[in-house]
Amino acid sequence: MEFETLLLEVEGPRATLRFNRPEKKNAMNPRMHLDMNLALDQIEAEPDVKVLVITGTGNSFSAGMDLEECFLQPYEDPQLFYRTNLVALKWFQRLKAFPIVTIAQVNGYAFGGGFEVTGLCDLAIAAENVKFGLSEINFGIFPAGGATWAVTHNMPRKQALHYILTGDTLTGREAEQYGLVNRAVPAEDLEAEVDKLVGKIINKNPVTLRLAKEVYEGTTMMDLPRAIDYDQAKLWELARLTSDEWINVALKQFEKRSYQPGLATYKRPEAADDAQRSA
Ligand code: COA
Repeated sequence: MEFETLLLEVEGPRATLRFNRPEKKNAMNPRMHLDMNLALDQIEAEPDVKVLVITGTGNSFSAGMDLEECFLQPYEDPQLFYRTNLVALKWFQRLKAFPIVTIAQVNGYAFGGGFEVTGLCDLAIAAENVKFGLSEINFGIFPAGGATWAVTHNMPRKQALHYILTGDTLTGREAEQYGLVNRAVPAEDLEAEVDKLVGKIINKNPVTLRLAKEVYEGTTMMDLPRAIDYDQAKLWELARLTSDEWINVALKQFEKRSYQPGLATYKRPEAADDAQRSA
């Protein structure tokens, strides 16, 4: 499927989605919000995809909501304004709960919605020279549509409030220091660093990856006894859905001392089949 505002590439276990309005610094207009919903549908329907990388074309990740098309133009028509922005809120929520691992590969500018997407992804790698910002205060509102949530759930209180209240920008390096991104690297190394991270994830069992995310999200809202009860139930779900791969394959390989789980991952039957096929 082709999109007016996005580029989607699916290559085996990896999908790469690029915001693609470089002439507007990849600002998210209503068409992009619709396209994001369609693209997420398509990616979710791909049975082999385990990782989604989100990035931007040109010199920007995303300058956030398109201030003209999303706010100025529809504002006089409350219904239109509501519908326009509801589409955005839909895919933001969906991204947060997406059943495969999501990685933000952040380049250039990441303001407002771009900052939010970084926070909503599971993992994020940024170029050191990225300019992140919650510029909302600079045009008279506060970060809405989940942006405040994304900041409070990724950064310590003082830093979060500093950027919410001042509209100051922060670099990729500062974002790493405050926990908004996992790592900041020189811009020329950004793709290679993300490729490395993708490489670590795609050799894991996809059901385990999905359930690990569910257990993380689910248990953040529970006390310890409930969390243990919940993760035990999820462990049985995992066992059933993976035909006990952790016992039958992973721990059998450990028993034979063919790998050290502390330092590496087991060889999945799927990977062994691939090796056999290519031999
Ligand atoms: N909404 C709509 N258009 C935007 C935009 C946004 N969020 N961000 C950038 N653009 C447009 C600019 O208006 C300009 O369009 P034009 O060529 O038709 O005049 C084009 O993208 C290029 O932007 P420009 O400002 O010339 O580039 P720059 O490199 O000098 O500055 C930014 C880039 C991101 C610092 C600046 O564009 C900016 O402040 N954008 C707004 C960011 C923001 O507040 N986002 C929060 C939204 S919730």
